[in-house]
Amino acid sequence: MKTNESNPLGSLDEWEDDLLRRYPQSTEQNGPQDGPSHQQDGKSFRNYAAEARPSVKEFYRLNHRYQTLDFVREKRKQYLSLDKRRMSIWGAMEYLNTLIDDSDPDIDLPQIEHLMQTAEAIRKAGRPRWYILTGLIHDLGKILCLWDEPQWAVVGDTFPVGCRFSERIVYSEAFDANPDTDVPEYQTDLGIYEKNCGLDQVVMSWGHDEYLYHVVKDYLPPPALYMIRYHSCYPIHHEGAYDYLLNDTDRELFRWVRDFNQYDLYTKRDERMDVAALRPFYQELISEYFPAEIRW
Ligand SMILES: [Fe+2]
Ligand SMILES: [Fe+2]
Repeated sequence: MKTNESNPLGSLDEWEDDLLRRYPQSTEQNGPQDGPSHQQDGKSFRNYAAEARPSVKEFYRLNHRYQTLDFVREKRKQYLSLDKRRMSIWGAMEYLNTLIDDSDPDIDLPQIEHLMQTAEAIRKAGRPRWYILTGLIHDLGKILCLWDEPQWAVVGDTFPVGCRFSERIVYSEAFDANPDTDVPEYQTDLGIYEKNCGLDQVVMSWGHDEYLYHVVKDYLPPPALYMIRYHSCYPIHHEGAYDYLLNDTDRELFRWVRDFNQYDLYTKRDERMDVAALRPFYQELISEYFPAEIRW
């Protein structure tokens, strides 16, 4: 992917690096357990001090400018019929790995290694097999980039559309340029939604999370689907925004999303993964939950 006006990031990793700037790692890590941790908002403190780098700020500006309810509805129509191709999970991992960006290949690990780092950290923590598998696949929705979607429509913090944008979203002032701010119906806290209707009723900004959720929703247990669907929703899982849209199921399952975040965000290391050596373990794990091919 070439850096240009609609793709200001040298690589998708720049957004994740900015998450690390915003949410530096807390010292406590969770040990082996069957359920999610009880980590609450605020344990990993928020870093207000430093500024995002210019390319990342520009990325947020584009994201906030163009993610409207109409845009998301359009993308859902385009992608959620899942008629782009049929691929295995492993095939999708290899396909995602063909994403070449402008960053220095000596610095950024191939996509497949980020997936394996996440999965291996979950495995080492003694978590259930479906959880390890969730770590392995959670970013496969980034293949949207290979279908010419701009960076701001693939990654970035996600948030509800069709209601007032929370000021707890990073660089929320950039929403002033979003046409939805001129639609009075979308400018109340609830917008087009009912109080505590549950996130399943809420249209989220478009990106790799929502897309992958629809690809895998018939195959994995509810906590796994929540992690996949909302792992980029930092306004909710880290900032506690939009509580008036959540129902009790959301609140319960968001504990899993917060739990997953430690493995997603804080496992990015320079340490290389031996993909060939790990492959047999993961192929077997994939085949426990998925058929040979699924629709994308
Ligand atoms: Fe992600
Ligand atoms: Fe990730």
